[in-house]
Amino acid sequence: MQTLREAITQAREGKYAIGHFNVSDSNQSNAVIAAAQAVGVPVIIGASEGERKFIGEKNLAALVRVAREAGLQVYLNADHTYSVEGVKSVIDAGYDAVIFDGSHLPMDENIANTKEIVAYARASGRDIIVEAEIGRIGTSSKLLDAPPEDMDANLTTVEEAVHFVTETGVDLLAPAVGTMHGRLKGGGEPKIDLARITAIRDAINIPLVLHGGSGSSDSDLGAAGPAGCSIVHINTDIRVAYRKGIEEALVANIDEIAPYKFLAGGVAGVQAMTEKYLRLFSGK
Ligand code: G3H
Ligand code: ZN
Repeated sequence: MQTLREAITQAREGKYAIGHFNVSDSNQSNAVIAAAQAVGVPVIIGASEGERKFIGEKNLAALVRVAREAGLQVYLNADHTYSVEGVKSVIDAGYDAVIFDGSHLPMDENIANTKEIVAYARASGRDIIVEAEIGRIGTSSKLLDAPPEDMDANLTTVEEAVHFVTETGVDLLAPAVGTMHGRLKGGGEPKIDLARITAIRDAINIPLVLHGGSGSSDSDLGAAGPAGCSIVHINTDIRVAYRKGIEEALVANIDEIAPYKFLAGGVAGVQAMTEKYLRLFSGK
């Protein structure tokens, strides 16, 4: 089976994106894996610090290992991790990829911490992909009243991206290009700065990752791969689909108490949402 690095390189060369979906329990994880199997593409399962705490760092690693043993091209990413120690812990737990999110730190501190993590990953003896984030994308995958403050004023420049990548030796970069974590309650789509993505891609020699996918238009998200993003992250829409599916199942049968029955509605919702995005990102 391809390594994650090989799959990302293939996506970069083919100008499409691999889907990355966040989960916090085994139902969502099973739904994402089933969707990837249905579409016939690789997929990355992600879990941020809170999500990992809920499902169990090693439990999630075991679920992905089982899928891989069944021949499925499923990879595991420790999404948004804010401490160096936290990143080291998931590297030790066998994750394929890690994101050190130092985007809230002064640039020098973000660079110093990212460098330490890159060195730790290289010393692990496994091919761990290290991603870092710069600029302002916001922090929460939730329904928002308003966009995060100062978002537009903190889009990543080509110079910042080149400086950061040269200094850290990181494998993947998540720049701020107009998206935000979460989705606006009242609607309203953030505009993805596709020209900025392409300018950064052309200036650095590592793949780019688009965060904050929920809430943007399908046409912008579909164009992100060709513009230069090799991975696109979706979380809020997965959470909404799960909750909605469970709610609908309970409303349809308020006396239902078997979790495997009412949770099945959530699983179906997550699988359908994931399939939609995987087709959009891969062009399949
Ligand atoms: O890392 C997770 C993502 O960037 C998710 O963003 O909640 O806006 O889809 P989203
Ligand atoms: Zn993110």
